[in-house]
Amino acid sequence: MALNPYESTRGRMRARAETTRRQFLMIMGGLAAAGASLFGGIQVLKFMFPQASGNAPALFKTTFTFEQLTGGIVNGKPVTPVNVLSETDKRVTVVLDDAGIYAVYLVCTHLGCTPNYVTDVTTGSGVAPTVAEARGARATDQRLPNGWACPCHGSRYFIDSTNFYGPAPRPMDWVNIQVTPDGFFAVDRAALVATRGPGNNEAPQWRLLVDTQKSNGKTLGV
Ligand code: FES
Repeated sequence: MALNPYESTRGRMRARAETTRRQFLMIMGGLAAAGASLFGGIQVLKFMFPQASGNAPALFKTTFTFEQLTGGIVNGKPVTPVNVLSETDKRVTVVLDDAGIYAVYLVCTHLGCTPNYVTDVTTGSGVAPTVAEARGARATDQRLPNGWACPCHGSRYFIDSTNFYGPAPRPMDWVNIQVTPDGFFAVDRAALVATRGPGNNEAPQWRLLVDTQKSNGKTLGV
């Protein structure tokens, strides 16, 4: 009789079965580790490159008209004094204020997400609503603490697109907007009319004038 139990036929079979079981557990462990690494890697990439944009044409026509934004022009002034209309899927908001019309390109300057237009932009930021109300060119009775809040990492922007909270390093850019012959707007996201670097809180003066429907030519940083 063999002294070593593994030298018997039964012992060798048992040893083989244990080896197979060990190999199976090692393979499963390896697969689980690889899966966890892959998932973690994808999440890191999503964080670093949120909402990567496609190759949509830079120039587009809005779904709303000059008339809908302004309420019409009477004596050279818009019937609706202040208004904000967004083309969220095109990542542009069009703003009407006392100085005219401008278009903000909604690309968060942190990592490129699309900030949402909100009417309480200072909530939870520690900044007084009156600070946001004072931005933009608008009469006292037309002021709102409005602006944009980024859903990705919490950056906030005033209505003139100046960043004031969160990781965004600089204001969002303004892009060229014109009135089309059929009364809509043509927005060219490839044509900047105002761009500012970190710490530049200067309010851009560029506007599409409501009476002449022409630009005032006051570009900033371009
Ligand atoms: S992408 Fe990070 S705050 Fe907007």
